[in-house]
Amino acid sequence: MSESSIPRPVVAAGEIVVSGVSKSYGAAQLSKEVVRDCTFTIERGKLTVMIGPSGCGKSTLIRLLAGFERPSSGSIKIDGEPITGPSRERLVVFQETALFPWMSTYDNILYGPRARGELTQQTLDFAEFLLNKVGLQEFRRKYPTQLSGGMQRRAELARAMINTPTVMILDEPFRGLDAMTKELMWEYYAGLVEESGRTNFFVTTDIDEAVFLADRLLIMSNIPTQVRAVLEVDVPRPRRLADIVTSDRANEIKTEALSILHEEAMKSFSRGSKAASDFVEAYTKRSAKT
Ligand SMILES: Nc1ncnc2c1ncn2[C@@H]1O[C@H](COP(=O)(O)OP(=O)(O)OP(=O)(O)O)[C@@H](O)[C@H]1O
Ligand SMILES: [Mg+2]
Repeated sequence: MSESSIPRPVVAAGEIVVSGVSKSYGAAQLSKEVVRDCTFTIERGKLTVMIGPSGCGKSTLIRLLAGFERPSSGSIKIDGEPITGPSRERLVVFQETALFPWMSTYDNILYGPRARGELTQQTLDFAEFLLNKVGLQEFRRKYPTQLSGGMQRRAELARAMINTPTVMILDEPFRGLDAMTKELMWEYYAGLVEESGRTNFFVTTDIDEAVFLADRLLIMSNIPTQVRAVLEVDVPRPRRLADIVTSDRANEIKTEALSILHEEAMKSFSRGSKAASDFVEAYTKRSAKT
């Protein structure tokens, strides 16, 4: 079967509008503000990447987008409808593996449709397509413990995409992978996104990952997190790592993003935060390399 003959499910991509969203935890005087007055759009059919210092409140924002928690103020709407709880249309891929250890790669990928009683021929064809796309055809019968870390992450992506969410939300899904595996993952993931035309929201602390993947880059402040800048990453697709490294435009965007992140990190560094000083150190090393 040729790739083009595969009847992939057609699902409209969603658009999420976040307006004046704040989130605090705890009551009255003990309350801690984590997200402050955030306004941004996760545009339809685009890959929006959010980058911000560790501990700034990114996962908190993701829990709000997923509908696991409600904002303290402001609104979040998907295609004009308020988000009131979790939904299959907004699927979250977390850093931690969610693969079932007792299921093969193939059964893990088919888990969602099978649980819903939707194992149609179209779904099975789509599973084959995804297995190919993430390079796991030969590993379909293997169990998660028999896969490398990178393979597990690829299986996870296929397992999420088979559910055809209108928005895919990913919380640092490649954190902890070694640098080379991580870079390979970017190419696999970017390929899947380009192919699907879906709306994706991807959170990271890695500037190279952010610039390689993003159509739009949201740069966040320290906690309580706010949107510091929105940069359009107008670098042509499909992107190859080799091209990005030598692209003047990509390097310009990276430099601009880094200077904003640096400024943020320095602010809390001066307030004596350990997380911020680690962040400054990591980014200074990284900038020196490039
Ligand atoms: N349920 C909660 N109650 C109280 N404080 C919370 C709660 N959830 C998160 N926080 C606080 O919010 C802050 C931001 O956490 P969050 O996990 O959103 O950051 P993050 O940007 O995702 O960090 P990382 O990059 O390390 O993943 C932390 O200081 C955390 O202690
Ligand atoms: Mg987080």
